Amino acid sequence: MLELKNLSKTYRTGDKALQNVTLTVPKGQVMALIGPSGAGKSTLIRCINRLVEPTSGSVILDGTDVTALGSGALRKMRRKMGMIFQQYALVERLTVMENVLSGRLGYVGFWRSYFRKYPQADVDEAFRLLDRVGLLAMADKRADELSGGQRQRVGIARALIQNPRLLLVDEPTASLDPKTSRQIMRLICELCAERDLAAVINIHDVALAQMFVERIVGLKAGELAFDGKPVEMTEDVLTNIYGEEDWHATIREVDDEDAEAEEPVA
Ligand SMILES: Nc1ncnc2c1ncn2[C@@H]1O[C@H](COP(=O)(O)OP(=O)(O)OP(=O)(O)O)[C@@H](O)[C@H]1O
Ligand SMILES: [Mg+2]
Repeated sequence: MLELKNLSKTYRTGDKALQNVTLTVPKGQVMALIGPSGAGKSTLIRCINRLVEPTSGSVILDGTDVTALGSGALRKMRRKMGMIFQQYALVERLTVMENVLSGRLGYVGFWRSYFRKYPQADVDEAFRLLDRVGLLAMADKRADELSGGQRQRVGIARALIQNPRLLLVDEPTASLDPKTSRQIMRLICELCAERDLAAVINIHDVALAQMFVERIVGLKAGELAFDGKPVEMTEDVLTNIYGEEDWHATIREVDDEDAEAEEPVA
């Protein structure tokens, strides 16, 4: 469903942020993207919806070459790609409901949204989504009255009301405590499963990625350095991606758990 072919990005400063990245994300797959700071994770996500213009290579979504689209067609294509950010990017003085509805901007046109005249079907869907993310009671609260976890739930509902085919998620849990981080990752992954959505999730917390996703891709200095299942993420792989360290506490002992599970029942 999503194909990146030889995707490269060199910024004007000369920084080679991405170099010949080729990968395919099938329909419904949730993929985590890990790698050290500056490896190019945000650049990769932003090249997919062309918030950052790739220098070369192509991005193909459901058979359409996104990199070849003109501005009108790109705007339509972006509806298919929901974005979720680390800093939530909510409009502080608007309510939770209004923030969620702003996800329909790509559909309803500027003036209609300016006067906040959203179709009833959109409002109904916003209520359904707020219920699903556990925020129904907060629909009328202002965004600046929410906790980080609640804000991220609004961000998730706003991305989903777009009815996307793909979620692009940039460090959704970086500002959250460990428990809230798990809840947010779980929610994103459950929603992807419910809606058969593919997702690319940038994440620094390797153990959290291992806990929830089916595939992990590692970037190192703009190049692919790992692509595999969570169980294949060993200390050696982490050393290759991040450099020498004691990684023991960082990764989940997935192998041990699997071994336990395979023990014959007496
Ligand atoms: N707008 C920009 N102009 C110039 N260089 C940039 C720009 N954005 C990013 N870079 C450079 O591109 C490289 C990749 O940056 P990017 O933000 O994609 O990394 P990242 O993996 O998301 O890092 P982090 O984990 O810190 O968020 C870095 O060397 C960075 O300095
Ligand atoms: Mg980043």
